[in-house]
Amino acid sequence: MHIDAMDAAALARTEAELERSYAALRAEGLNLDLTRGKPAGDQLALSAALDGALEAGYGAEDGTDTRGYGGADGIAEARRLGAEWLGLAPEEVLAGGNSSLTLMYLFLLGAHRFGLDGQGSAWADDPAGARFLCPVPGYDRHFTICEDLGIGMVSVPMTGEGPDMDRVEALVAGDPGVRGMWCVPRYSNPTGETYSAGTVRRIAGLGRIAAPGFRVMWDNAYAVHHLAGGTPPPENVMARCRAAGTEDSVVQFASTSKVSFAGAGISFFGGSRRNVDWFRSRLSVMTIGPDKVNQLRHMRLLPDMDTVHTHMVRHAELLRPKFDCVRRRLEEGLGNLGMGRWTDPDGGYFVSFWTRPGLAKETVRLAAEAGVRLTPAGAAFPYGDDPEDSHIRLAPSFPPLEEVDRAMEVFVTCVRLAVVRGARRDREG
Ligand SMILES: Cc1ncc(COP(=O)(O)O)c(C=O)c1O
Repeated sequence: MHIDAMDAAALARTEAELERSYAALRAEGLNLDLTRGKPAGDQLALSAALDGALEAGYGAEDGTDTRGYGGADGIAEARRLGAEWLGLAPEEVLAGGNSSLTLMYLFLLGAHRFGLDGQGSAWADDPAGARFLCPVPGYDRHFTICEDLGIGMVSVPMTGEGPDMDRVEALVAGDPGVRGMWCVPRYSNPTGETYSAGTVRRIAGLGRIAAPGFRVMWDNAYAVHHLAGGTPPPENVMARCRAAGTEDSVVQFASTSKVSFAGAGISFFGGSRRNVDWFRSRLSVMTIGPDKVNQLRHMRLLPDMDTVHTHMVRHAELLRPKFDCVRRRLEEGLGNLGMGRWTDPDGGYFVSFWTRPGLAKETVRLAAEAGVRLTPAGAAFPYGDDPEDSHIRLAPSFPPLEEVDRAMEVFVTCVRLAVVRGARRDREG
């Protein structure tokens, strides 16, 4: 029965039933974890051929011995793959080490501390301050970077086709301290949405209304991570920027972390020649070059985007049953009860769930007491603060299917219990 249709007696009866189910689940002493979006062991095994990929030797296609120093831009074949991945030319791409997040951090550190346009351009030294627009719900580690560097954060709601661009444009045009914005354009973490053509065009136009040195951090972490057939890709942002004359305003990132080995993949940075030159000069202060040996073995496993796409179909086959299970549990346990809403993503690693306002922390607490760890409520918001206390990020990729199923049974029970207890309190008080 829909929660709003329950009278006092129905509420009391339902609460008593739920308390019994919850107590029974607690008594099982479960120890389950739906917190982080990591590939599971069977997914990592899809790339087992990385071991042995170097038996053919350490020479890159141009004869470079990848074991040696140098090659700050990454090997040519990896830059070519990155270019295809990001919709750029190879000379607009740097191939890096195992983490795109590190590249994002280093890019922002350099812009904040040293500036993008030489002496006097450091964001940190500008009296206008430094703020970043943060589409919410978003990726917690993006927000941690801003917090770490002392860059303020301004939340902007997601709409289902990317950030609310009316808000974004008003903030960018009205505040010279807005230095940039986080974007995950495809299968966004955690809402799973893909930016519409209109959103991409408007983002490409921001460089015309922003203060100098504005940069969109275009994080293509899930660009090839479909769960089923795949939705059409977002528009090529660089093509749109070129048309708008703003090619310096967007910098792109991607990695093979959820394609090959999560902790031992390769990463890509992409952007205009100017941005690539600037970032190369920053990176060259801290490294003589990336791990080219790992780049080479990746190129033997994944030489081009056709191979990457075929590989990702095998990932999808392993992930889909887990996402199907989440959807089924939510539909069967909560469908039409008015107790929450959730996403049904076509790709990426997450399902977003919204409780009734004010119940996310309580739901996460109830689940923890029943042995199911969830990402802390609020984690997908700057400073960990969800003003509605409503959003919960579910990450079903890592645990085995049976554990996802049990964890979701507990989750659904906790949502219902939190709602029914809350409704009783409201009516009584
Ligand atoms: C949106 C997003 N960007 C970046 C990363 C991390 O990327 P990497 O492993 O390349 O550092 C993640 C990992 O979950 C992510 O969700």
